[in-house]
Amino acid sequence: MPVLDPIPQSLTVQSAIETRRSIRQYHPDMPRSHLLEILRLATLAPSAFNAQPWRFAVVENPELKEQLKAVSYNQSQITSAPYTIVVYSDAEDTLKTAVETSHPHFGEEGKVRQVQSIEKSLSKLSVQERARWGDTQANIVLGILMVAARGLGYDTVPMMGFDQTKVKQLLGLPDHVIITALLPIGRAAELGRPHHRHSLERVTRFY
Ligand SMILES: Cc1cc2nc3c(=O)[nH]c(=O)nc-3n(C[C@H](O)[C@H](O)[C@H](O)COP(=O)(O)O)c2cc1C
Repeated sequence: MPVLDPIPQSLTVQSAIETRRSIRQYHPDMPRSHLLEILRLATLAPSAFNAQPWRFAVVENPELKEQLKAVSYNQSQITSAPYTIVVYSDAEDTLKTAVETSHPHFGEEGKVRQVQSIEKSLSKLSVQERARWGDTQANIVLGILMVAARGLGYDTVPMMGFDQTKVKQLLGLPDHVIITALLPIGRAAELGRPHHRHSLERVTRFY
């Protein structure tokens, strides 16, 4: 996808990760082309069978952002950011559209195999189990999304503080989907807090 507005900066992976902090106050400007490039990079994430169960609902309309904030414990980062990305997964749509995800390298036979493999694995699960399967993978995209945003000079804050049912109703999303997180995104208008983390020794074991 062509990026029409020049990207302000591009950080190394290391500095993107080091400098990412949760940001809750934003400047209002962000070209849509930059947002689309960040989303495109995130969709290069891996997924089981390459099934890509993640979906994005981008909220930019000011009135809708106010309504989204109201069902997210009034967290003001939603209205401060130029966009809030609702990262969700739709395993039912994934199951229905499995043929689209077959790699062209494998040709027509590959399409048949792809549909069979996905159906074999997913159709034995309940709708809820499939939804959890999709959510796991949408979490991978969420992580990459935050690093991609920072790498291109933008900031985010992942949010689980929202009412799952009410956000689905507001956006007209089907009941069976799981919303992984809300992700306000834009240019930081505050510094955020320095990282405070467990030591590696506390969280790592070698066997
Ligand atoms: C799954 C998840 C849910 C979170 N939910 C919220 C939230 O609802 N509101 C908020 O302000 N921050 C939320 N955060 C941000 C965390 O508070 C933040 O990541 C953490 O304090 C570490 O700070 P840092 O992101 O600046 O390194 C969430 C983070 C994660 C990963």
